[in-house]
Amino acid sequence: VRGVEQPQIIIGTWPQLQALVAPIRLAVFVEEQRVPLELEWDEFDSICIHAAAKLGAQTVGTARLDPDGHIGRMAVLAPYRRRGVGGTLLQTLIDHARTQALEYLALNAQTHAIPFYIRHGFVAEGAIFDDAGIPHRKMTLAL
Ligand SMILES: CC(C)(COP(=O)(O)OP(=O)(O)OC[C@H]1O[C@@H](n2cnc3c(N)ncnc32)[C@H](O)[C@@H]1OP(=O)(O)O)[C@@H](O)C(=O)NCCC(=O)NCCS
Repeated sequence: VRGVEQPQIIIGTWPQLQALVAPIRLAVFVEEQRVPLELEWDEFDSICIHAAAKLGAQTVGTARLDPDGHIGRMAVLAPYRRRGVGGTLLQTLIDHARTQALEYLALNAQTHAIPFYIRHGFVAEGAIFDDAGIPHRKMTLAL
């Protein structure tokens, strides 16, 4: 049963991981959440460290960390949610950030995901705002 399997997390640059993680972002953000395709790809991908979560041979999740300590594009394919894949991805990027000269991490959480980030130590701040038609709130984590 997949539910007891631990995901394997791979970290790398955009050229290294694009082929693995781009289909995840298309499925979750563009197809499921209806984010416009032209907003999904931006200039940050080339400067971010990317993480890919694999269950066996299949890539099921992704997230990215930019050099300023912003985490984003956190996505797990719908059938593989609620079994810790997202948490393992997030924790891997937090651990990676601790090896960098960063004092805190920041992210813009979709409001439904705020409890998920709170579970990993993030604190919400400021007002809810709209991005790509989805309500968000800034969250930070002191490293
Ligand atoms: C947000 C997201 C990445 C989380 O990924 P995930 O793999 O489901 O994350 P986890 O399994 O580690 O934790 C998610 C929740 O499942 C819960 N959970 C984990 N294992 C569980 C289990 N066996 N049974 C029930 N709940 C479980 C966790 O406690 C957590 O609950 P919470 O959200 O109430 O805090 C995923 O839901 C997603 O891709 N959503 C769509 C895209 C999106 O909104 N991304 C966030 C942008 S800010």
